Amino acid sequence: MHMAEREQARPSRRTFAKQALAVGAATVAARTLPTPLHAQGTTAVPGFVGKDSLKAHAAAHGLFAGAAVNLHLLDTNPAYKQTLIEQCNIVVAENAMKWGPMRPTPDTFQFDEADRLVAFAEQHGMAIRGHNLCWHEQLPGWFEATVTKSNAEEFLVKHIQTVAGRYRGKIRAWDVVNEAIKPEDGQPDGFRNGPWYKLLGPRFIEIAFRTARAADPHALLTYNDYDIETDRPQDVVKRAAVLQLIEHMKQTGMPIDAVGVQSHLSTGSAAQIGAGLDTFVSRVQALGLKVFVTELDVNDDSLGDGTSPDEGLRARQQAVAEVYGRYVGSMLKHPAVTDVLTWGVANGASWLNAPGKGGAKFRPLHPDRKEVCLPFTDAYAPEPAFFALRTAYDSRTS
Ligand code: G3I
Repeated sequence: MHMAEREQARPSRRTFAKQALAVGAATVAARTLPTPLHAQGTTAVPGFVGKDSLKAHAAAHGLFAGAAVNLHLLDTNPAYKQTLIEQCNIVVAENAMKWGPMRPTPDTFQFDEADRLVAFAEQHGMAIRGHNLCWHEQLPGWFEATVTKSNAEEFLVKHIQTVAGRYRGKIRAWDVVNEAIKPEDGQPDGFRNGPWYKLLGPRFIEIAFRTARAADPHALLTYNDYDIETDRPQDVVKRAAVLQLIEHMKQTGMPIDAVGVQSHLSTGSAAQIGAGLDTFVSRVQALGLKVFVTELDVNDDSLGDGTSPDEGLRARQQAVAEVYGRYVGSMLKHPAVTDVLTWGVANGASWLNAPGKGGAKFRPLHPDRKEVCLPFTDAYAPEPAFFALRTAYDSRTS
């Protein structure tokens, strides 16, 4: 189908977005939510559901606000599910749509969890982010021994055609390629020396994006990466390489619609969030692309315990909230920034609080202390970060 015909054939992305928001708003208006679980049997916690929810304040400014979803919690925890329904007008699978969970064997696909997420989102009028079609992590166990330079393109194309094709028209945005830049690997143009790069060279990116566009012309095709938020030297170098990639993609006519800024922040580096991020977002916006905050959380490991655990906890909650408010407020000054998702709902289930040595590496200073990195407590009550995030949505003027 010729470009012009395709443009006419599919609803414009603005229309698609408005439709998604309208469905969400209509669903909210039409649905009489059951009494929030956190209010049943306890004194209702005022001021954070319904018109006071994150999604209500976001939608008032045409924004998408949501979280990454853990399918096990969705299936087993009613309060978790209720919080997603009350607070999110967009969701993304934390893991269910990655190669590892989706590809039990070289010739088969497993869609159960992904289908449940899509069904849940559609039932509740939520938009959906797809994460992700091409990444160096969480590849299936058979990958290394099976995928070679001669068959890698076939595997990548078939995966994207099958997965993006299955959810065609249902996905607001796909993270088509995730984390392809890592300057410290020493490769030309700062590419990460990961499996796909080793197998196909940098052309894996064009293969992925062109295949995704053909598989789902409605989805906003996104390049997603992290450690591009602050003015720390390593972020400045990486951010420049990401921008160079995005500019190259646009200049050579590759289909790309958005850049995902993962936004895994920390109280230890928040002070370095400054002019460089504004310049980056402005440059991406000038290319005609959207910018999504895709995986927001704030690591508080850098902060001590204060004079007592309680005092230390309150100080950490406030410091985390300050980062949420300042960062999202800064990002939302840019019209191109339209979606904000946190990487999880409540602190305890965050990847930052993963148990064992695997998790402790994210908390080197306080491996035995739980981070207060997300907008909700494990009782699904709002943290100070919730109110800071909501205020940031209200600050949206563009
Ligand atoms: O599901 C298996 C389970 O069957 C098995 O028993 C268990 C023990 O090995 O592992 C389980 O899979 C784990 C999966 O999370 C689900 O819990 C993987 O080992 C573990 O590596 C995986 O971690 C995820 C990580 O990405 C790697 O995929 C985290 O939950 C997830 O929060 C994290 O998210 C990434 C984004 O996708 C990309 N940006 C960075 C972000 C944080 O690392």
